Amino acid sequence: MATIYLSVGQVAKRSGLPVSTLHFYERKGLIASVRNSANHRVYRREVLRRVTVIKVAQSAGVPLSEIAEALSSQPTHSVPDTKDWARISEAWHDDLTRRINALTALRDKMAMCIGCGCLSVKRCPLVNEDDHLAKEGPGARLL
Ligand code: FES
Repeated sequence: MATIYLSVGQVAKRSGLPVSTLHFYERKGLIASVRNSANHRVYRREVLRRVTVIKVAQSAGVPLSEIAEALSSQPTHSVPDTKDWARISEAWHDDLTRRINALTALRDKMAMCIGCGCLSVKRCPLVNEDDHLAKEGPGARLL
């Protein structure tokens, strides 16, 4: 089967991402292009699936550096298959769960602060809740 190549504009249109973002991804090594006979930058069609993985991961809050690390085990021209996606998502699962729990706790604490705005060190749960050094007295304790 012949390889199908897409221009950066076609990838942008089909992925919904700006051309500048695709170029950024390429500079970061997340995707790769090749030059066609007219010396234009083109992408294999498989790049669309790779871009989808990047978009999904970014929407879940996974930092680009971690996405790059997860995808680095695959050649930039390959398509992440079901097995690859399972391996990648498993690696992010614990971190996502930790962040979800932290955000849920933050949301619940913020509910107490709605309409208050005091940001009191003594009673607001958003302000330095885990300040264990406060027991040692006021001011900087580690200097
Ligand atoms: S802002 Fe007043 S309790 Fe948080």
